[in-house]
Amino acid sequence: MSQVRVHNFSISLDGFGTGEGQALETPFGHAGERLHEWLIGTQFFHAGDQLAGGTLGADNAFAAQHNPGIGAEIMGAGKFGPPGWQDDPDWKGWWGPNPPYHTPTFVLTHRPRPSIEMEGGTTFHFLDATPTETLAQVREVIGDADIRIGGGATVVRDFLAEGLVDYMHVAVVPIVLGRGVRLWDGLESLEDTYNIEPVTTSSGTTHLTFTKKR
Ligand SMILES: NC(=O)c1ccc[n+]([C@@H]2O[C@H](COP(=O)([O-])OP(=O)(O)OC[C@H]3O[C@@H](n4cnc5c(N)ncnc54)[C@H](OP(=O)(O)O)[C@@H]3O)[C@@H](O)[C@H]2O)c1
Repeated sequence: MSQVRVHNFSISLDGFGTGEGQALETPFGHAGERLHEWLIGTQFFHAGDQLAGGTLGADNAFAAQHNPGIGAEIMGAGKFGPPGWQDDPDWKGWWGPNPPYHTPTFVLTHRPRPSIEMEGGTTFHFLDATPTETLAQVREVIGDADIRIGGGATVVRDFLAEGLVDYMHVAVVPIVLGRGVRLWDGLESLEDTYNIEPVTTSSGTTHLTFTKKR
């Protein structure tokens, strides 16, 4: 059976995966870019740039696990666009004509629309389904490849709550946001079902890996 994986999901010390006040100009609300500075510095992040650069250390080693083996991403409506994107028939995500997914990408929304084929192998499909139903539908499309749960916090939390995530990498960054959408709410005792290992890097980020106990 394919694995369900979370990668590079960044949270503040107080557990927020995004800030408050998400809008077109502020995709992460009042958090700005602060949750992802560790990632933006890596070579992985700059792999598509003409002048590729970035660090090659431990942050990059974690970041680079994002794509290998992945056959599809599942994301929430809150990651796909700012509040109200469902009212804009031309909205195709934040990422321009060639989004960085390069696989079928399933957007969970209570207001689904027809699929959108983008450049570079990304096709957005829109689903109104439970996490379990969603995984079954995705597996029908992609077969045995692994599935990445791309966020935001609500969708990662929902898949965790149903015990559907096999592996998760969370990057805890040394900032306190105070408000936003929290990853951990309602997820009591994840340590009972996951082996959790921390690694702290020179950027001040603590990478936590959650590996499901067998
Ligand atoms: N920290 C990180 O690494 C990271 C990663 C990715 C994204 N983000 C950020 O996280 C924020 C979005 O997170 P979020 O928690 O607000 O939202 P989200 O998890 O992206 O999406 C939640 C929304 O998706 C729809 N949805 C979820 N489950 C559904 C289901 N089973 N069936 C149908 N629709 C379903 C609902 O929207 P509707 O009811 O409107 O349809 C729900 O309100 C953004 O700011 C994004 O930039 C952060």
